[in-house]
Amino acid sequence: MTFIDAGPTGSLRVAPSILAADFGSLAHAVQVIDAQTDWLHVDVMDGHFVPNVSIGPPVVASLRKYSDRFFDCHLMMSEPGRYLEAFAEAGADGCTVHVEVGGTAALIDDARSLGLRIGLAANPDTPYERVAPFLGDIDLLLLMTVFPGFGGQSFMGDVMSKVVWARSEIDANSLAVDIEVDGGIDLQSAPVVVRAGANVLVAGSAIFSRPDPLEAATALRTAALAGRS
Ligand code: DX5
Ligand code: ZN
Repeated sequence: MTFIDAGPTGSLRVAPSILAADFGSLAHAVQVIDAQTDWLHVDVMDGHFVPNVSIGPPVVASLRKYSDRFFDCHLMMSEPGRYLEAFAEAGADGCTVHVEVGGTAALIDDARSLGLRIGLAANPDTPYERVAPFLGDIDLLLLMTVFPGFGGQSFMGDVMSKVVWARSEIDANSLAVDIEVDGGIDLQSAPVVVRAGANVLVAGSAIFSRPDPLEAATALRTAALAGRS
């Protein structure tokens, strides 16, 4: 398996979420926004961990033919361990599992042995203390800014306290961990999350529900960069 490099840890990245794209023409959607895609965010929902179903490894394998970007797969699944190998084989570069499902240490080991970059996600109401013990073992911390399951929800600003804590701990210990936020990221919230310390911004509706997705992604990057100045 060949994995795509994630790029330097901590650099600002825009990660369009294909959940908000037209599933009937996903390849086209991915190509349209390619120039503004640092990572492609793939939302996988199992209808059990979250009350919705979306896509799985076959779609990742199909999209791999149309994109050379880093595939950032967000596994909203009760049993992600059963599918890590299938995602790696399909062309995922990183997989993020939720801390709420448990078995985190084993999942991290399994993902690493497959050559995947590993992320750990926490829902808005999951305390920072649940993820803190794993910070030294992961590549990415995903702090959800909505309850997972659906696109188009409102950004939850309260989560920024966790982003601030994570950023200070990561920097204080010189850890190579990216901080990703996901849910309700738009032109207003982008500078807010960057100021708090996030560096990977997932956005679905703010890109794909706009008349010109490429222009929307460009504007989102500009808004995010404003949070760094
Ligand atoms: C939510 C997903 C998100 C979603 C974000 O369960 O994890 O990645 O696509 O969508 P927006 O950007 O519309 O909030
Ligand atoms: Zn997601």
